[in-house]
Amino acid sequence: MSGARALFPRHREPAYGPGPGCRTLREEYAMAITFTRLTDTFAAAVYGVDIAAGVSEADFAAIVRLFNDYSVLVFHQQNITDEQQVAFSRGFGPLEGTVLTNAGSGTEIALISNVDPETNEIIPPTDRRMIFNSGNEMWHSDSSFKRIPAMASLLSGREVPPADGNTEFASMRAAYAELPAEKKRHLEGLVAIHDFAYSRGLIDPTLIGEAQQHETPPVPQAVVRSNPVNGHKNFFAGAHASYIRGLPVEEGRALLQELTAFATQPHYVYVHQWQPKDLVMWDNRCCLHRGCVWDKAKYRRVMHRTTVAGDGPTAHA
Ligand code: OGA
Ligand code: MN
Repeated sequence: MSGARALFPRHREPAYGPGPGCRTLREEYAMAITFTRLTDTFAAAVYGVDIAAGVSEADFAAIVRLFNDYSVLVFHQQNITDEQQVAFSRGFGPLEGTVLTNAGSGTEIALISNVDPETNEIIPPTDRRMIFNSGNEMWHSDSSFKRIPAMASLLSGREVPPADGNTEFASMRAAYAELPAEKKRHLEGLVAIHDFAYSRGLIDPTLIGEAQQHETPPVPQAVVRSNPVNGHKNFFAGAHASYIRGLPVEEGRALLQELTAFATQPHYVYVHQWQPKDLVMWDNRCCLHRGCVWDKAKYRRVMHRTTVAGDGPTAHA
């Protein structure tokens, strides 16, 4: 496959800043923006983009290609408003609305925050909202519990804690590539049932009420997916994946947990340490992510997320 060179480079590039190891997009994409790889297999930091000032069509096309190749894109120093974030995100496709359970419900911005938007005070860590949000600390793919799972999420660090509170990303594409052929054959054609009530129930069975359960009934998702642009395949698991259609629940659940555990080994993981004004974009079709704890009682962490919808169901009903 032609994308293989970009996906599995043999050398490591410097982690931050467009240093001497930074390949320019002029070389690879005939563009002027630049990027640096953040791990050997996926994730890249993109430079020369000012989202608030507007992104040219040519630069946007390069970003789309980088997104399909690298799965996680980091844009530093993006001082953006919600409107600018929404406009940039819409370039990738229609946005999802935010589920009932999120403070941003009814808008295109999901609030991932320990600050009460009404009072502007830190929400006590024991508050039900914070316990609900702690679900983000399990490895997951956003909206995999929706019939049409999300394509991308864009998370803007509006206020970030001075330490900890990282977001970690795992490449199910890099992990899939290293599965034995026999395992790949076994996964082909399997369908998993993803269920928000199942995953939130792992924290506390009372977290999801009837209205939410009605909003997000269990849905089928393909266990093996491929990128429509470059053809790279990956398995698809994570916290919302409850069981496998046609297999005994415990057996399917064990397989899905095994896949999640396999993909989240350190060599398939990029750890993002937030700097203020970072915007991080990830491909929910082939990545898992999780939030990491910080001193929640002491430090504010305010993140605004936009979510780009997927282009269709991944499995038959
Ligand atoms: C999200 C999410 C984790 C974090 O925004 O979808 O899971 O680190 N965030 O805030
Ligand atoms: Mn998430």
